[in-house]
Amino acid sequence: MTGSNDRADQHSTTTPHHVPVMVDEVVEGLDVRPGGHYVDGTVGLGGHALAILEAAQPDGRLLGIDRDPNALAVAAERLAEYGDAVVLVHGNYEDVESICADHGFEAVDGLLLDLGVSSLQLEQPGRGFSFQHDEPLDMRMDPNQELTAAHLVNGEEEGALADIIWRYGEERRSRRIAKAIVANRPIETTGALAGVIEQAVGRGRGRPNNIHPATLTFQALRIAVNQELSHLDAVLASAHGLLEATGGRLVVISFHSLEDRRVKEYIRDHSADRPRDPEDRWAPDPGPPPSWRRVTRRVRKASDDEIARNPRSRSARLRVAEAIPTAEAA
Ligand SMILES: C[S@@+](CC[C@H](N)C(=O)[O-])C[C@H]1O[C@@H](n2cnc3c(N)ncnc32)[C@H](O)[C@@H]1O
Repeated sequence: MTGSNDRADQHSTTTPHHVPVMVDEVVEGLDVRPGGHYVDGTVGLGGHALAILEAAQPDGRLLGIDRDPNALAVAAERLAEYGDAVVLVHGNYEDVESICADHGFEAVDGLLLDLGVSSLQLEQPGRGFSFQHDEPLDMRMDPNQELTAAHLVNGEEEGALADIIWRYGEERRSRRIAKAIVANRPIETTGALAGVIEQAVGRGRGRPNNIHPATLTFQALRIAVNQELSHLDAVLASAHGLLEATGGRLVVISFHSLEDRRVKEYIRDHSADRPRDPEDRWAPDPGPPPSWRRVTRRVRKASDDEIARNPRSRSARLRVAEAIPTAEAA
């Protein structure tokens, strides 16, 4: 094998190790079988992809997509031993259907989405995702994109900024923070922004789990810069078309409630056992034919052992659904 699990460590200054979360649960959730065709919509540094490929041998194939070309370079090295069985594409998972069609992945047995950012993005110098390092406010997953966090922080009107911070960070003090940002413009670096926020709202009471007062604002800006929620909606809407021919599985791992709620509601509202009119249980179901079967009725979380080994897994929430072929559902 040319790429070991520790391969990323060899790039220690530029490519920190990203420990994939809930790997066994992902392989089980996707019901990976030898010879199957799988799509990893967030291939990142290739940790889950490696486990999926291993379980899909002999003859299994994997198409990995990522917006971040830096991540793809690491994944390519790590998955190299699988040769032509792996196709890596720089792209956005919102375009998953066309990317799959372009690369001959028409009937897919499973689609994985491991949402959010990787350790590479958080820790690689110059990416501007984190206030742990003081660097230019960037936060782009795809460095080819124009919009950066600096554009939002220095260009949005106060009301629009407050909206972003409230909507994507669920930050109660969004208005106060937006006002402080506008009063202190231009703000060029992550450290300067974190300082402005800390000064505006203090470090004190009212913060869940004692998190830094800038945490939710940074999350909000990152989601806005990368349009994470609209891309998630788009890929959820496309997933059925990819998976229905095989009755394939969708596995989604989310790291905050905004994402998990969307995934949960999407699957629930398209499943055969979706809630009916509470006033009249016998009324005909007005919705479209169900397209998903819920495999995990309850969200799955990482085990205590995994959380002890990898604290990042603490907030992981995994959901699994199986596509119902349209002909069967009609
Ligand atoms: C949590 S990491 C995935 C880590 C990966 N599962 C592994 O084992 O290394 C999330 C990845 O998804 C990518 N990503 C986020 N949004 C995306 C989108 N809309 N399209 C494609 N990739 C996306 C990020 O660039 C990041 O590399």
